[in-house]
Amino acid sequence: YPGAGPWVPDEPDEDRLRSAVQECRGCDLYLDATQGVMGDGPVPARLMLVGEQPGDQEDKQGLPFVGPAGRLLDRALGEAGIDPAGVYKTNVVKHFRFKRDGGKRIHKSPVRWQVAACEPWLLTELGLVRPEVVVLLGATAGQAVYGSGFRVGAARGTPTPWPEQLGSLEAPPTTVASAHPSSVLRSRQRDADLAALVADLVVARELLG
Ligand code: URA
Ligand code: SF4
Repeated sequence: YPGAGPWVPDEPDEDRLRSAVQECRGCDLYLDATQGVMGDGPVPARLMLVGEQPGDQEDKQGLPFVGPAGRLLDRALGEAGIDPAGVYKTNVVKHFRFKRDGGKRIHKSPVRWQVAACEPWLLTELGLVRPEVVVLLGATAGQAVYGSGFRVGAARGTPTPWPEQLGSLEAPPTTVASAHPSSVLRSRQRDADLAALVADLVVARELLG
């Protein structure tokens, strides 16, 4: 598998990206997923949110963050004083990875080479959306940008420069890391974890002034 590069259009726009990702054979994840899920939201946008990969609902509907994690995310955005409609949302990996358990499809995190294979799509979206601030939701998104040493617990809530060597972005964004909304949903201290997610989103909002 060659990575997504060969499938990225030369002159990308939102519509071209959405159709091109359906042709992608950059890694093996296209084999079992229903469809590729490109990011969604205004272009350009000052704030971009980056998750891990589409979930079950996203895979069926073809849009990011439309399932339970997305609903929690929109609630957290609202509590942080951010209009969800003004934000571009995407994932580091565009196809759903899962294992079957009876009739159910259980989320399985993508592995490092799959994240690396999918990176050209994310860099292309960044070039198109040109966000000032990127919120990295969870360890997979953080490691995609900062490498395998990244830890949510140590990094979260602290504005951090985009790594110079990653992509050739004209105006690299500042990142703020946080927990993934799915982990908040699974948490036994959901209220506290939701409050921490909201606090990190407030940091992102304040960076935008
Ligand atoms: N989790 C993610 O990381 N992204 C989605 O789009 C949905 C759930
Ligand atoms: Fe291409 Fe990414 Fe899908 Fe892999 S996960 S096939 S690299 S779009």
